[in-house]
Amino acid sequence: MPRDTVVLVPAAGRGERLGPGAPKALRALRGDPLLLHAVRRIAAAESVAAIVVAAPPGAERAVRDLLASVVGAAELVVVTGGASREESVARALAAAPPDPQVVLVHDAARCLCPPELADEVAAAVRGGHDAVVPVLPVTDTVKQVDGGGAVVATPDRATLRAVQTPQGFRREVLVRAYAAVAAGETWTDDASLVARYGAAVHTIPGREEAMKVTRPFDLLVAEAVLDRA
Ligand code: C5P
Repeated sequence: MPRDTVVLVPAAGRGERLGPGAPKALRALRGDPLLLHAVRRIAAAESVAAIVVAAPPGAERAVRDLLASVVGAAELVVVTGGASREESVARALAAAPPDPQVVLVHDAARCLCPPELADEVAAAVRGGHDAVVPVLPVTDTVKQVDGGGAVVATPDRATLRAVQTPQGFRREVLVRAYAAVAAGETWTDDASLVARYGAAVHTIPGREEAMKVTRPFDLLVAEAVLDRA
């Protein structure tokens, strides 16, 4: 498998939904920060040549020291994260080493994502897809509601998927989309951004282990996953 992939890791979120404390990526899960768990797994993927972390402002040095021992052969770049996830990814993309032509974007909060999933996403991009996202079927019925909380639609669950990271892109496609962004534009995942600019987004099967740690309950689940391994 070619080492042709750079992984951008936005890790500058405050993690307010997790309760008061350090920035989320630096909170401990069984003694190690979430970011360390995440990068250790990403660095173990065979495709990965470089990892660019968008660190919480002020924690750049600490993040570099934290990760130096787990990146292995991968090049590590640390940039200062932005005020939004979008800005953090943009800064990481701008600092990515020039050679890798496959770009993955991976949330630090998905700290137990297996290395194989990163390789599968990269392989699908290498295989010719402009944009690739790992997805899982949705188990809850999902409602669309209005501002007052009244249900306005119930999309057919069979057509819905929950989207994870790492999300993969042909470098040129992601760079073009970020270059085209207008002031004030927002998005919650990078695949929706590139889709706005015309790219087709391909799905592959995700992994339950690639769950996102957002709330305290998710930490309990992540601990159980870690203990099982
Ligand atoms: O807010 P949410 O949990 O969806 O954030 C997803 C990822 O984006 C997290 O890994 C978080 O650290 C990152 N993020 C960031 N910069 C921000 C806000 C979020 O890198 N300003």
